[in-house]
Amino acid sequence: MGLNLSRLVREIRELPTLPQVAVQIFNSLEDPRSSARDIERIMSNDPSLAGKVLRMVNSAYFGFPHRISDLGHAIVILGFAEVKALALSMSIIDLFGKTEGGAEAFDKTRFWRHSVAVANVARDEARRRGADAGVAFVTGLLHDIGKLVMDQYAPQDLGRICERSEADGCTYWQAERALAVVPDHAEVAGLLVENWRLADEVVEAVRYHHEPASAPASVYVALVRLGNHVAGDLDLLASGDHAGHPLDEDTRALLRLEEDQIPGIAGRLKQRIEAIDVFVDLTR
Ligand SMILES: [Fe+2]
Ligand SMILES: [Fe+2]
Repeated sequence: MGLNLSRLVREIRELPTLPQVAVQIFNSLEDPRSSARDIERIMSNDPSLAGKVLRMVNSAYFGFPHRISDLGHAIVILGFAEVKALALSMSIIDLFGKTEGGAEAFDKTRFWRHSVAVANVARDEARRRGADAGVAFVTGLLHDIGKLVMDQYAPQDLGRICERSEADGCTYWQAERALAVVPDHAEVAGLLVENWRLADEVVEAVRYHHEPASAPASVYVALVRLGNHVAGDLDLLASGDHAGHPLDEDTRALLRLEEDQIPGIAGRLKQRIEAIDVFVDLTR
């Protein structure tokens, strides 16, 4: 008998909404007319978010030698896309990061470590290909967020999936298949980000990150799949995954990636692990 989570889908309509500030930031991410000053203005409506972004900018994650004390300066140094992605990440992490309870088998720190690692790979490889780095980062950060939703609203079901993946030595997604979970974490995440009115390419990539044939032209699906693959090699698997994610031919072809380029990508991610942990610390 499968796990039917349609109740969850109904509840998703009432799920945490993304703060208005984050929605505005995300929309300006896409709008070429928006300026650094717009972002400053939007973020000045949420001082705690602005404070967090500055804390992040000044953390070892970026490793700047001088203290950056205002957002305008941060935008100049880090770049527009980076500050927006950061602000959006902080809002999203805030929404879920601090929820108590949840399934015992689900490790939230591990979850965020994995998500931030995938976001990093997706962003860097997007840049190399002229794709939108901000969209890639956000997509990487959110791709597995359906698991957090399950942890909050259906922790027993999530626990069963995690137990199954551990027993079978497979990925969380394979365990969902084995248990006939409907909807799976990718679909739940897709519904959530759709509900948040994030850009279509983010919704699509989140929804199909385990089913690339459904979005064959999406470079963002491919970037997330690459991130999942590389993260698995570095002990940065997501919570609930007990096997790595092989890289399929179509994904490799879409990214014009040769097998021998993968160790380089993994090496760059490895150098970032300490910095990623600084980022993840901010989620606690
Ligand atoms: Fe996933
Ligand atoms: Fe993942």
